[in-house]
Amino acid sequence: MLLRRFWGVSVAATLVGAAPARPVSRDVSTDVLDQLTLFAQYAAASYCSNNLNSTGTPLLCAAGNCPSVQSAQTSTLHEFDHSTKFGDVAGFLAADKTNKLLVLSFRGSRTLSTWIANLDFGLTDASLCSDCQVHTGFWQSWQTVADEMRSKIDSALKTYSDYTLVFTGHSFGAAIATLGGTALRNAGYKVNLYTYGEPRVGNEALAKYITKQAHLWRVTHTDDIVPKLPPASFGFSHASPEYWVTSGDNKTVTPADIQVVQGVGSTDGNAGTPEPDVSAHNWYLLNIDACQ
Ligand SMILES: *[C@@H]1O[C@H](CO)[C@@H](O)[C@H](O)[C@H]1NC(C)=O
Ligand SMILES: *[C@@H]1O[C@H](CO)[C@@H](O)[C@H](O)[C@H]1NC(C)=O
Repeated sequence: MLLRRFWGVSVAATLVGAAPARPVSRDVSTDVLDQLTLFAQYAAASYCSNNLNSTGTPLLCAAGNCPSVQSAQTSTLHEFDHSTKFGDVAGFLAADKTNKLLVLSFRGSRTLSTWIANLDFGLTDASLCSDCQVHTGFWQSWQTVADEMRSKIDSALKTYSDYTLVFTGHSFGAAIATLGGTALRNAGYKVNLYTYGEPRVGNEALAKYITKQAHLWRVTHTDDIVPKLPPASFGFSHASPEYWVTSGDNKTVTPADIQVVQGVGSTDGNAGTPEPDVSAHNWYLLNIDACQ
């Protein structure tokens, strides 16, 4: 029911945002904040190794950063941790009986500064949409697990046919969640997408396409460096809307701290901040990679 109310709010917000000709910003409701917090905790849980090596167990974050997930009735249907040449693709698919959710969560990189330093800016054609180009490494990372994820999701949906399917992740995990979610939507699945500190994943045609698919909550934090990468000057863009958290590191986030920034590739939120910051990448409503 929480989700249904949330959907209503989000649709209303989209309509309000569509009226003026230029992008607008506004703060969010507590329902929206609750959802952003819940899925931030699901993203955080994929940094905890005990959620990656024991399919069938409840989710547990030793670092104490996923209390809402731990108090829900969860069990994982698949846990995975694959080392690929594009990066480690790790995470879990979990059933949440309390909130009637199937959540696929992808972990970010375990060595952030190395990952940032090694991030390449290559684009490649993808069949996701016409004129769409994607970040080569992120796309290939998704492709290494695409068949596996699809088969696990198919079997989960047989048991939990009335559950809402959600993809989430932080950082590199957010990029995989977005490209995977877009690919599965193209294949007819309904996917809600919650991303935290997501890098740019493709060109403007892709950003427009993802924006049009909607059901996207792309969260950024102050001047976090990662959503600024790869740079727009290399042909990359971001989908809309952006939920921009404007309060500082380690600060409890209130609805008034979140601005909804409309517009593909907008510079009204994180992208327009002058100094890229690495520490802001760790604070996404909570210390999102505390389990590292
Ligand atoms: C899974 O990982 C956790 C945390 O690293 C570890 O304590 C546990 O022994 C591992 N379990 C298995 C079954 O490998
Ligand atoms: C926020 O918390 C982290 C982890 O406890 C700490 O390393 C960092 O210095 C804190 N940042 C600020 C601005 O207080």
